[in-house]
Amino acid sequence: MALTPEDIFAEIGGQPNSCTLREYCAFAERVQNIASCRLLVFGVGRDSTAWRRINHGNPTLFLENNEEWIDRIGEEIGNEHILAVTYQQPFENWERTDFAADQVTLPALESSPFNGEWDCVFVDAPWGPTFGRHQSTYAATKSVKPGGFVGLHDCEREREQIVCKILLEENGFKLVTEVERLRIYQSPS
Ligand SMILES: C[S@@+](CC[C@H](N)C(=O)[O-])C[C@H]1O[C@@H](n2cnc3c(N)ncnc32)[C@H](O)[C@@H]1O
Repeated sequence: MALTPEDIFAEIGGQPNSCTLREYCAFAERVQNIASCRLLVFGVGRDSTAWRRINHGNPTLFLENNEEWIDRIGEEIGNEHILAVTYQQPFENWERTDFAADQVTLPALESSPFNGEWDCVFVDAPWGPTFGRHQSTYAATKSVKPGGFVGLHDCEREREQIVCKILLEENGFKLVTEVERLRIYQSPS
């Protein structure tokens, strides 16, 4: 019998710095409901293998800025599934623009996957107290297909709430599910 999201995320959900089981399952169900889903994930961690299992056989690509985590998870899932990314705009610099939506810089990487061809994009990086998630979320809006889904984790924090309002809601993205600290938005069709 096929494994359910509950089975796949059971041991990971609720561990320190990870999402809860309910949060993982809410996004995993979106992924599983899309045939041949193309899944882009900002951030690697102990959940990376689980995302690949959920999206079994379909394209699943991770973006990560921390070299130690790239090496660690690259050994587990294969480096070809992880692209190194650089965040160059600290949240405070964006704040100095009065949070102008058109002043967010796309994260830098060699070969950009921000092409509007991804069905689902999960944003759980960069690490909270470092850069903020305005760059990764902005990149998610450029990556996702019309009608696709963007999940943003840690929305109990003020910074992520600003990101939701300015980069998602004011850009036509509709909140379709909120589970604990996770918000899932659908991109305009
Ligand atoms: C919120 S963590 C992502 C956690 C990840 N989704 C997981 O499976 O737990 C954001 C960033 O912190 C780093 N990181 C990943 N797993 C971590 C962990 N268990 N503890 C601390 N930092 C982690 C990575 O650089 C990652 O992009």
